[in-house]
Amino acid sequence: MERSFVMIKPDGVQRQLIGELLAKFEKKGFRLAGAKFMKVSEDLAKKHYGEHEGKPFFGELVEFITSGPVFAMAIEGPNSIAMIRKMVGATKPEDAEPGSIRGDYVSYMGKNIIHASDSPESAKRELALWFTADELIDYTRSVDAWIYA
Ligand code: RTP
Ligand code: MG
Repeated sequence: MERSFVMIKPDGVQRQLIGELLAKFEKKGFRLAGAKFMKVSEDLAKKHYGEHEGKPFFGELVEFITSGPVFAMAIEGPNSIAMIRKMVGATKPEDAEPGSIRGDYVSYMGKNIIHASDSPESAKRELALWFTADELIDYTRSVDAWIYA
């Protein structure tokens, strides 16, 4: 079982795609372990995209992700991290395959509607950054597991 950090970015929220995108992950068989609709502080944005600090597009990236509310999610399922990246599609619009989310919804790299963790290490770091332990559902506890029993 793996958990990924997935976020509908401000442009996805503005385009009213939260439900449509979440439905794709639910239909795939993954489940929500946590979610929140929130504004992103500059501090959280910089920490989230810390690996890109110093790159020419870093300022733009932080400005974009703080420009409006985002829908942050913890999504879980077997091998979910790599599979969700596949569902999201490539970063460069010209490389994003039709059928993938970015392939179907995105034409400009700077506004690409969704984020997903790119490795188990990133997922762990990002989930800890965006959620506290008590904001996440632990389905291994029978008290929480009934819903999918
Ligand atoms: P994300 O982290 O947002 O899910 O996107 P990603 O893994 O597909 O791409 P990543 O390399 O982590 O880059 C983060 C975001 O920065 C913008 N970017 N611009 N101008 C450029 O060369 C460039 N490279 C990346 C994209 O908006 C990307 O989503
Ligand atoms: Mg990334």
